[in-house]
Amino acid sequence: MKKILWISVFILTLSACQDNTKKENKAEKESQPKAETKTAKPAFDHKAYKMKGMIIAKNTFKVFKSNIQAVAAKDGLSGVVDFCHDNAMKLADSLGKSHNVVIKRTSHKLRNPVNKPDIDSEAVINEYLRLQEEHKPMEPVVMKDADGYVHFYAPIKLKKDCLKCHGTPGKEIPEPVYKLIKSKYPNDKATDFKVGELRGIWDIKFLDMADK
Ligand code: HEC
Repeated sequence: MKKILWISVFILTLSACQDNTKKENKAEKESQPKAETKTAKPAFDHKAYKMKGMIIAKNTFKVFKSNIQAVAAKDGLSGVVDFCHDNAMKLADSLGKSHNVVIKRTSHKLRNPVNKPDIDSEAVINEYLRLQEEHKPMEPVVMKDADGYVHFYAPIKLKKDCLKCHGTPGKEIPEPVYKLIKSKYPNDKATDFKVGELRGIWDIKFLDMADK
């Protein structure tokens, strides 16, 4: 068992910052909870990051939702499209700063090309798509990137409320709303989703690594 643990520490070290190798090994050894050695996989506190990530994603969704509801009550759906266009990124940025993380939403079918997935998030999306195809549950994922930063990934499923802007144009998305979306996002691919389908993922990058 010990051997397996060391192999996994070694592999993780390889993917982390070169000049941090010694420090990281030590930090990992110290932070390795005893119970976790059973699985021999995590070289950092997976569970803690998973909990933190889930709370941040939930919180971000709540803040988005309350902002959107307020705008919708005042300016209707088109107002929300405008609001998202102008503020989605800023909102995620400021929420991220308050948690010392970088919050991103990305997808295989993008509305805003700026939200494009990187290699790691693309791999996570593809894995979730595979699970979706096989009707298997999609669990949140915690892993390190090539620079050694911990990321939390979780699926974003389509809810009924989302159909108004991500469903079928002319059917669930009212024509004027779709026109406005197209004018702001000429390459929009984020339509024709069904309730329960994978719409995209959260990618939350933690900036507070002990071994950084
Ligand atoms: C009023 C229209 C509207 C509604 C309702 C809406 N969205 Fe969006 N969504 C947008 C717009 C506009 C963007 C692009 C935001 C930007 O510019 O970053 C977007 C972007 C996204 C993205 C980022 C990836 C991308 O394609 O750029 C995700 C993920 C997403 N929406 C999921 C959802 C989910 C889940 C719901 C329901 C809970 C939802 N949306 C409801 C309009 C909407």
